[in-house]
Amino acid sequence: MVFNPAERYLQNRCTGCGICSSICPTCSIRATPEGKPSYFAHTCIGCSHCGVYCPENCFDLEPAAGSEGVSPVQVDELFKLRRSVRRFKAADLSADELEELLKPLNWTPTGRNDQGITVKVLSGRAAVEEKLVNKFTGILRAVDCFRAVTLMAGPGRDFIRRLRKGEDLLAWGAPCVLLFSSSVKSATPVQDSLIAASAVAMKAEAMGLGTLWGGFIRYAAPLTGLGRCHTALCVGQPVLRKYQMAPERKWKRIDIHGRQGS
Ligand SMILES: Cc1cc2nc3c(=O)[nH]c(=O)nc-3n(C[C@H](O)[C@H](O)[C@H](O)COP(=O)(O)O)c2cc1C
Ligand code: SF4
Ligand code: SF4
Repeated sequence: MVFNPAERYLQNRCTGCGICSSICPTCSIRATPEGKPSYFAHTCIGCSHCGVYCPENCFDLEPAAGSEGVSPVQVDELFKLRRSVRRFKAADLSADELEELLKPLNWTPTGRNDQGITVKVLSGRAAVEEKLVNKFTGILRAVDCFRAVTLMAGPGRDFIRRLRKGEDLLAWGAPCVLLFSSSVKSATPVQDSLIAASAVAMKAEAMGLGTLWGGFIRYAAPLTGLGRCHTALCVGQPVLRKYQMAPERKWKRIDIHGRQGS
């Protein structure tokens, strides 16, 4: 466990305010009548909330003061600007860029704080083509389902035809593909991976990189020997600049109210 409250607790700093036991998500802090933690149960998931919200820093964590955060306008701007990229420059991401890009994974949440995220990085066009695109196309050719699928594909016929010709319609020329998966032991593996990948996608946008969610890749990865993949993200420098903003998307809001006055 990254954070073990029993090992870090400094009793001499504790005022017995009771905040920690009141916010522990798994009710793992038994408190004395004076409100001081007396025991941390084995149900603790190491979420560190007792430490983060302790006014006396009894768990000896780095102080949060000085962190300014970002404005709501800046966050909206990122979401408004993000568009899927399907024309990437061939240039690989540098080691520094990759490290910076993946930093959000140090903080993205996981159900029950399982922290079981793994990111496989296909770095460079050679790796993307060799390990994913060519292998997948090879598999499809080997079973020769292309011919039948092309005939049956209807509106998707051109897509299949181009795939058959060897065009990279999986990663669309991206020089980097990130395969996110979570431990099978996680309480919420698919959600954990999606949250992690979403955070990385927004970080990419902030870094001026482009991303494409790889829906097909999710299914292709296990077939090509790359293993389990809950979600995939293609990343690289975009070729095209955006001249206009996309129109706002449709979504639904349903307000559910309690009984008046209760
Ligand atoms: C998919 C998902 C489901 C979660 N479900 C619950 C839940 O049912 N009850 C709860 O108290 N916390 C829930 N959490 C919160 C996690 O326990 C929390 O994110 C984790 O302990 C890390 O703490 P943080 O969110 O403060 O970083 C969930 C988190 C995720 C990502
Ligand atoms: S780390 Fe989280 S789960 Fe463990 S005792 Fe502290 S608040 Fe509770
Ligand atoms: S929040 Fe900190 S000061 Fe308050 S009871 Fe818990 S450990 Fe003690």
